[in-house]
Amino acid sequence: MTEIKKEVTILAIESSCDETAASVVVDGRKVLSNVISSQIDIHTLYGGVVPEIASRKHTERITQVIREGLEEAGKTLEDLDAIAVTYGPGLVGPLLIGVSAAKGLSFATGIPLIGVHHIEGHISANYIAEPTLEPPFACLVVSGGHTHLVLVRDYGEYEILGRTQDDAAGEAFDKVAREIGLGYPGGPKIDKAAREGDPHAINFPRGKVAGSRYDFSFSGMKSAVLNYLNTSRMKGITINVPDVAASFQQAVVDVLVSHAGEAIGQYGLRKFALAGGVAANSALRAGMKQMCAEKGAEFFCPPPILCTDNAAMIGSAAYFEYIKGNFSGLDLNAVPGLRLGQR
Ligand code: KG4
Ligand code: ZN
Repeated sequence: MTEIKKEVTILAIESSCDETAASVVVDGRKVLSNVISSQIDIHTLYGGVVPEIASRKHTERITQVIREGLEEAGKTLEDLDAIAVTYGPGLVGPLLIGVSAAKGLSFATGIPLIGVHHIEGHISANYIAEPTLEPPFACLVVSGGHTHLVLVRDYGEYEILGRTQDDAAGEAFDKVAREIGLGYPGGPKIDKAAREGDPHAINFPRGKVAGSRYDFSFSGMKSAVLNYLNTSRMKGITINVPDVAASFQQAVVDVLVSHAGEAIGQYGLRKFALAGGVAANSALRAGMKQMCAEKGAEFFCPPPILCTDNAAMIGSAAYFEYIKGNFSGLDLNAVPGLRLGQR
């Protein structure tokens, strides 16, 4: 066990997808800076993230983003107790840029290095949003690459109850948005269009996985939307984009909320949290909040800026590794397919 100083100050770096981010976090809960340089404008031209372009942009921006992260926090390298970085899962090129930057800084300064799991980061955003939150609780992690229903038994200790068998929830949002002409990134655009639509206009299927209570399947729901669009076009029926967006969103939200509700009932959970980019969705936040209130569970959800990719969440997760003495060597590598609970 590491001897704990009064305050533990961590510089965190995140570059697993299309956001170059740096943040300084104190004691895992207090965010001094949260700099995020988004590449959305470039990837929008291609309808999705182009890994090679993402890597190049991370390379161009990372030094400046780290400098801004420190400056905004009013800190210098001398003030740091550790340097944390996302080392997986994610895109290998983008991950390598962050990992290399963190290792370079650690090697040059002698400041300890902590490799962080990206999904642990998303879950930990809840510790920042709600400073009194402590495990155990359950968390639904819904992002562009992941859909996991997780029991957080303790800091850094997870049991996965269910996961997607095909597309991630965010991926389904992105694909449907592209088909209905809303473009990239699909989630926020569907969220916005859905506000003008009727969620009950079209009855899309609620995906189920046979024999598994908590696993998810979104590819059938996505195909149902595509079939609906094709059939409507063939029949010459004008497509009402807000209605399609609202009905699809409702179908996804219904599935996520019902799985979460079942877990709360079966495990007698008192606390339930949301995490990941899709947790920024207004209908999902409202649906979860209502369901948790009905079941008597306390509901937690970070503000949207801490739901989508950021480095503050990585700094929070790293703190709980720091106090356990879990440091990484300079042989830390990017692990694109890193699983939750694996180190
Ligand atoms: O967590 P995140 O920023 O990156 C990954 O780790 O994947 O999640 C990005 C995903 C994208 O699929 C994006 O469309 C989705 O989160 N997203 C949303 C919303 N904001 C972002 N999905 C639904 N509604 C939103 N408001
Ligand atoms: Zn993410």
